[in-house]
Amino acid sequence: MITPVLLCGGSGTRLWPLSRKSYPKQFSKLTGEESLFQASALRLTGAGFAPPVVVTGADFRFIVTEQLAQVELAPAAILIEPAPRNTAPAILAAALSVQARDPEALLLIAPSDHVIPDAERFCDAVRAAEESARGGQLVTFGICPDRAETGYGWLELTTPPDAEFAAIAQPLARFVEKPDLATAQAMLEDGLHLWNAGIFLVSVDALIAAFETYQPEMLAQTRRAVAAAECDLGFTRLDPEAWAPLESISIDYAVMEKAPNLSVMPYGGTWSDLGGWEAVWRDSGPDAQGVVTSGPATALECSNSLLRAEDGQQQLVGIGLSDIIAIAMPDAVLVAHKDRAQDVKQAVEILKSQG
Ligand code: GDD
Ligand code: MG
Repeated sequence: MITPVLLCGGSGTRLWPLSRKSYPKQFSKLTGEESLFQASALRLTGAGFAPPVVVTGADFRFIVTEQLAQVELAPAAILIEPAPRNTAPAILAAALSVQARDPEALLLIAPSDHVIPDAERFCDAVRAAEESARGGQLVTFGICPDRAETGYGWLELTTPPDAEFAAIAQPLARFVEKPDLATAQAMLEDGLHLWNAGIFLVSVDALIAAFETYQPEMLAQTRRAVAAAECDLGFTRLDPEAWAPLESISIDYAVMEKAPNLSVMPYGGTWSDLGGWEAVWRDSGPDAQGVVTSGPATALECSNSLLRAEDGQQQLVGIGLSDIIAIAMPDAVLVAHKDRAQDVKQAVEILKSQG
């Protein structure tokens, strides 16, 4: 059976000040009625998939249970990481715990910071990738790129995608995680590359075998953390001592850039990763002037800007602004050039170091 693995332990710092250490972006209602996490969980239920395994940090465990209860969704398990170690250890822990009860399982590894409006079409693409994953391929999902995005992974095809962008899994020549701008620009222009959607369909065996080859120490250590896990209050707490020495690394660098058995299933539907404020601006449907306002925010003669007043009371007014992101919270205000929205991450690091 296909078991979704929902990753929701990231800190989402590029969406500061809305996204905070104690309440990251995936739990916020950024663009819709549900939080990104709830929308991701709902997207993968009712499609014939098994209940999801959720992997998150200790600080978020009650947010997860509360948000799942709100949408009446019962998970198969909630794995708690004693400390964040990025996506590779989180995914491996989920694979090991699913393997123990269903060695035949396919894992649909899904982030919780995405917007995919057409759930049915997306689930069809997942099912179309099933055979390839059963055959031992690590299947990625490829999105047609429209800009030289350096915040994504890029997938190099062996032949250009056909005009219909047909959903047929094909072998992948190369996986490049977060390239520099010049490389991304070249990949955008050659017509042979897709964006990595950050979603993977894999058999537990193939995934664990890839870790055995490329991350043997991580595999041994994560096995210990899963074997010594404690279950209480519906949570599976991975063992903190075994977990502590694990390297913090994403699945993309740890396995996907190295493995030869990669395939890609092109996905032609709408997809976006709300990774930063620029993406939120783009996804919120800017008006003819390119302006998005939210909450009590007013834009006078502005263009290509996002103005969000988050607490619902404080007035935010912009006059004559171009290419500006302005986010007002009761205790913090962000004003940034739209082209520098990714640098919010560095600003948060500086704030952290200042205590
Ligand atoms: N449980 C857990 N633990 N989840 C985590 C952790 C962790 O330590 N770190 C990140 N996550 C979750 C995030 O909450 C998010 O849902 C997902 O894993 C992906 O992490 P991001 O930090 O958002 O990754 P990214 O967007 O920079 O890059 C990935 O996604 C891109 C597309 O959205 C990569 O897979 C790229 O190749 C891809 O293009
Ligand atoms: Mg992301």
